Amino acid sequence: MIVIKVARALQQGQPDQQIEVRGWVRTLRAQQKFSFIELNDGSCLKNMQIVVDASLPGYAGSIKQAGTGSSLIVTGTLRKSLGKGQRIELHAETLEVIGTADAESFPLQKKRHSFEFLRDIAHLRPRTNTFGAIARVRNAVSAAIHNFFQSRGFLYIQTPIITTSDCEGAGEMFQVTTLDLARLASGRVKSPDISNTPAGLRRPLAEIDLDDSTGNRGKSEIDYSQDFFGKPASLTVSGQLEAEIFATSLGDCYTFGPTFRAENSNTTRHLAEFWMVEPEMPFYDLDDNMRLAEEFIRTIINDVLEQCPEDMEFFNLRIDQTVLETLRSITESEFLRLSYTEAIDILCNSRPASGGDWEFPVEWGRDLQSEHERYLTEEHFKRPVILYDYPRTIKPFYMRLGDDGRTVRAMDVLLPRVGEIIGGSQREERLDVLIERMRECDLNPDDYWWYLDLRRYGTVPHSGFGLGLERTVQLLTGMQNIRDVIPFPRTPKNAEF
Ligand code: 4AD
Ligand code: MG
Repeated sequence: MIVIKVARALQQGQPDQQIEVRGWVRTLRAQQKFSFIELNDGSCLKNMQIVVDASLPGYAGSIKQAGTGSSLIVTGTLRKSLGKGQRIELHAETLEVIGTADAESFPLQKKRHSFEFLRDIAHLRPRTNTFGAIARVRNAVSAAIHNFFQSRGFLYIQTPIITTSDCEGAGEMFQVTTLDLARLASGRVKSPDISNTPAGLRRPLAEIDLDDSTGNRGKSEIDYSQDFFGKPASLTVSGQLEAEIFATSLGDCYTFGPTFRAENSNTTRHLAEFWMVEPEMPFYDLDDNMRLAEEFIRTIINDVLEQCPEDMEFFNLRIDQTVLETLRSITESEFLRLSYTEAIDILCNSRPASGGDWEFPVEWGRDLQSEHERYLTEEHFKRPVILYDYPRTIKPFYMRLGDDGRTVRAMDVLLPRVGEIIGGSQREERLDVLIERMRECDLNPDDYWWYLDLRRYGTVPHSGFGLGLERTVQLLTGMQNIRDVIPFPRTPKNAEF
């Protein structure tokens, strides 16, 4: 008897073959003479239809227990199915109920549940068609990412999750500490000077709400020499700075892992914990960087369409009827290159699809918002757009200063439906310019001595970018809310499971 996955049995199984399958009951139709069970084991969207004849020993008892949500091991013989919907079905010879599920209290009923409801039962939602399909697509995207870089000779580098530098300089870091916050709040621990602490790391501490009764409000100074790392530490917002170390030592590399941002934005495209893949390439300028990003996105889409045809059909049918069409058009169209300055011109002379005004004003020197990005890619050009050369004042310190002195060599890849999916840049490789930019961004160059060393010893032009995994899964599945494409979303006031 071979134990076999449902996906393989449905694809390759032959009549008369004896097999064993293991999984969870999706539905049970109990009848007098025989019953039908739809069994899912997660290997594919489809279920194995199991026919249980009333002559099976213990029939009545087993069927009573084998309701929706219960787990089973079934052995039997594959037969050509007479019903429609499946090529073959399994005629049970033994049926063992491993774990029962109380029909009254089991939260997943046969009806359609809202995504909001399913978020509250994130531990059970993988048992639905939609979330099973999302998990398989997410897996296929991850594999496609590794394949893309591995086949091009990139080194996979694991960069740290705990860090003492703020890569993006946006002050959005989660602090990591073993200090006793309750004791600190009561004012019993004092701390010396924090003026050398990078601005981004200082902010959350200044905001600790001190207990007024101690008279200590506003006087908080934390002694980080007492903390675990002897200085302020945070969860990383990006593995880029460390990836640069390896790229300028060993060549093309990439890091791929979780990143964390304490931005308090409750949008359908932001998470506090998300996964990012960040390639970093020495001797690449911004054009090389754009070319790689474009090829990368195309390859991921093609790979997933090839690996998960059944799941992708499902999304196109049930979630968003334009998904496949959008994906095909992305893989077939050339990504337009457009400077930030040109984009501002276009936006100044355009109106949003709603006909009203932009919610956020458009002006050279201001960052673009999702409404602007989506307008450019969805309405104006109707194809992927790579925006480049942003004002230096709205971008991080590490981006290479352009010849005009007022822009940096940044790039954002904008796609229909998700907006910004990639952010990247050519890096500043000139020591003096970099130090100048750090000062401009309120950073202390001494804190980044190792990063500056890369410019002191054998510096090279280099570039890289970051692709958000969840936004990629949104693009592929058509799912509206980013909270539904990561197994356990972390957002403001929400870290259950
Ligand atoms: O544009 P970002 O902030 O770029 C960086 O972090 C660079 N250090 C990357 C690099 O050059 N190596 O983020 C890159 C991408 C975004 O385009 C977006 O897809 C995703 O990461 N992203 C988020 N995804 C979900 N939730 C959030 N809060 C995100 N912030 C960024
Ligand atoms: Mg960005």
